Amino acid sequence: MAAPRTLAFLALFGVSSSQSSECSYSGLLNHLNLTNPEKILLIRRPVKNWTSTTLVQLDMLLFGILDVDEKSQTVTSHNWIEMQWTNEFLTWNSSDFCGIDTLSFPRSMIWIPDINIQEDASDSGSVQMDPVVIIQPSGLMSTTARQRLTFTCQFRLSLFPFDKQHCNITFSSMSSDSKSIILGTVRNSTTLTRISEHVMITQGEWKLNSMEIVEEKVQHEHLLSSKLIYMVTLERKPMLYVINLIVPLFYLLVLDLASFFISEAGGEKLGFKVTVLLSISVLLLILKDILPSTEDDLPMIAQYCVSVFTMVWLSVLEAMLTSFLLDLDESHGKKAQGSADTQEDIQLGAKSQKEPPGVEEKGQVEAGKRDRDLLKLILEEVRASRQLAGSQGKDQRRPGFYSKLAKTIDTLFFICYFLTVQIFLFYMCISWIRN
Ligand SMILES: *[C@@H]1O[C@H](CO)[C@@H](O)[C@H](O)[C@H]1NC(C)=O
Ligand SMILES: *[C@@H]1O[C@H](CO)[C@@H](O)[C@H](O)[C@H]1NC(C)=O
Repeated sequence: MAAPRTLAFLALFGVSSSQSSECSYSGLLNHLNLTNPEKILLIRRPVKNWTSTTLVQLDMLLFGILDVDEKSQTVTSHNWIEMQWTNEFLTWNSSDFCGIDTLSFPRSMIWIPDINIQEDASDSGSVQMDPVVIIQPSGLMSTTARQRLTFTCQFRLSLFPFDKQHCNITFSSMSSDSKSIILGTVRNSTTLTRISEHVMITQGEWKLNSMEIVEEKVQHEHLLSSKLIYMVTLERKPMLYVINLIVPLFYLLVLDLASFFISEAGGEKLGFKVTVLLSISVLLLILKDILPSTEDDLPMIAQYCVSVFTMVWLSVLEAMLTSFLLDLDESHGKKAQGSADTQEDIQLGAKSQKEPPGVEEKGQVEAGKRDRDLLKLILEEVRASRQLAGSQGKDQRRPGFYSKLAKTIDTLFFICYFLTVQIFLFYMCISWIRN
């Protein structure tokens, strides 16, 4: 009686123990021969037939744009990269193992595709690899990496600050050609862009516009390698630059236009214009810190700044010319005034010298003397008045000429300047909007 019961118990125990072994991970690891992994797992591409290619799928999410450096032409971002491929040797039937459908395994013990990023300019410490690889019953392996990626990007700054930058992040295998490894993605570009926008934690001055995916094969010396290109479009938020640069420059230009209405006297106008010029050069210094010095593609904002600077500079020159002409006028006027005064003095002196002898000769005929005196007086008066009139005419003609010239130049310049500013602003607006 005891023996069959014992047997039944043992059978039950055996069944339960065999069940418990299949439900544990170690059973699965044993089945996959991973408890004592062969080196072969590490070194060979996991395909049964060597002619079959391994599809490596790379999904990249951008969840932070940390820094865009126009000077060094790099973008620093936070990326999440998920990589998937199939290992044909590590498969199991999940119903045989109590429904275990994922298994994690240290990545150091398994073959992993050698994928790198061509534009990568970051230091090696910035990658955080997931230490394990997740394996699914079908043999699908997936691993993730979080990376603070600094990648180079050829910036086009001609429309700064209303620019969009197109950057490529190119994934490729370092050693394998397209016969053994081919690259692709799991999700499509729209989904990846949408998820990226959703998980974005910081983007500062920039906005992720779109991510497009291009898969292509590129001949590299003698081997044709597969490439996966993420074409990332970033759009700048221009408000800061509009407030900091464009609007102040515009205001300074308007101030300079308005300064034509300041009176010329005392040299205030010139001083004011020079101050405006100095303010513009301070703004130019700010701009210099932002933009790289690539000569072949002068940004439009630089054109704008330099044009405004040149216009204000011209108007300072014009103000100098005007004030010089007016000065010339004043000095001429003074000289003419001075010469008229001396002539009058001489005349009066002559009169006073001639009169005493006339007074002394008392023995002459009263009537004749009176007539002569009267005639002399009239003559003096006429001469004096003619002198005065002549000198005054001279006075008015000389100074009138220069100040009139100055005024004409000023008016003409103002009209030209005003028109130029209008045309220039119009042109700038049109070209910024059109691009
Ligand atoms: C495990 O190794 C044995 C021989 O050592 C082999 O027969 C079996 O196919 C291997 N299992 C897997 C999943 O590779
Ligand atoms: C990005 O890659 C695409 C496809 O190869 C290419 O057409 C484009 O010019 C590249 N863009 C940049 C900025 O290099």
